[in-house]
Amino acid sequence: MAEKTQILKISNLVSSYGNIRALTDINAEVNKGEIVTLLGANGAGKSTLMKSILGMVHIDSGSILYNGTELVGKKSHQIVPLGISLVPEGRKIFVDVSVENNLEIGTYFRTRTKARDKELLDMVYETFPRLYERKKQLGGTLSGGEQQMLAVGRAIMSDPQLLMLDEPSMGLAPLVVAEVFEVIKKVRDMGITVLLVEQNASMALRICDRAYVLNTGKITGMVSNEQENMQEIADNMLREAYLGAKKQDRSERGETGGK
Ligand SMILES: Nc1ncnc2c1ncn2[C@@H]1O[C@H](COP(=O)(O)OP(=O)(O)OP(=O)(O)O)[C@@H](O)[C@H]1O
Ligand SMILES: [Mg+2]
Repeated sequence: MAEKTQILKISNLVSSYGNIRALTDINAEVNKGEIVTLLGANGAGKSTLMKSILGMVHIDSGSILYNGTELVGKKSHQIVPLGISLVPEGRKIFVDVSVENNLEIGTYFRTRTKARDKELLDMVYETFPRLYERKKQLGGTLSGGEQQMLAVGRAIMSDPQLLMLDEPSMGLAPLVVAEVFEVIKKVRDMGITVLLVEQNASMALRICDRAYVLNTGKITGMVSNEQENMQEIADNMLREAYLGAKKQDRSERGETGGK
C-alpha cells in the first residue's frame, strides 16, 4: 500500500465563540487524496471545525498543521493562498453575475498567473460541461444542483489542495444529491483532498475514505472504509451522538427523565 502523506493534522483543538466553547479537544487528520467526512447532529460543531481551519473562529488552544505549516494564529487571507478553500453552507454564489464571472471571482483569492487560471478554468469546464454550456447564464438562473456545481467550480478556481464542502447536498432533491456526490468524486479525481460535512451520512460514507463523528464539540468516533461494516459502525456512533445531543437539549431546557 502506498505511504500516506498527511495534509492536515489537528491536535487538541479548542475553539470558542465569545465565552461559549464550540470545540473541545479535537484530534483529527486528513491524508492527501482522501475524502474525509464530518458527521454529527445540528450544532455538533462541524461548520465550526471547518471555519477554525480557515481562521474564521477564535482558537483557544491546539494546533492545525497543514502540510506541516501551523495555521493557528494565521488569518483567513493568509490561509486561503496556502491552498485551502471552503464552500460554505448555503452555497452563496453571485446570482446577478454570469457563470463565467462567478468562476473568475474564484481566482481573486489566490496569487494569479494567467496560465494557471486558464488551466483551472479548462479543468472546471471539462469536469462540469453543464457550466460550460451555461457560462453566459446568470448564476441565479441555474438549478439548485447546477448552483452547487458552480460553487464547487468557483472554489476550484482558487487552486486548492484541500477543499472543504459544508453540506453540499442540502436542500437538493435525491437525484440531484446523487449528482453532487459525483461532483465530489470528480474533485477528488482532480487530485484535490476533500473535507466534507454531510447530513446525508449513508451517501457520504459510500464515497469517503474515513469519517469522524462529532458530538457537542467533541470527536466521539472515527470509521474507515478499511472496516468491512463501516456503515453499520457509523450508524451506531451516530445514533449515540444524536441521542446525546437530544439529552443535552432537554437538560438545557431543565427537563428530566422521560423519553
Ligand atoms: N457565530 C456564532 N456565535 C455564537 N455561537 C455560534 C456561532 N456559530 C455557531 N455557534 C454555536 O456553536 C455550536 C456549533 O455550531 P456549528 O455551526 O459548528 O454546528 P454544525 O455541526 O455545523 O451544525 P449544523 O448541522 O446545524 O450546521 C452551536 O452550538 C452553535 O450555536
Ligand atoms: Mg453547519
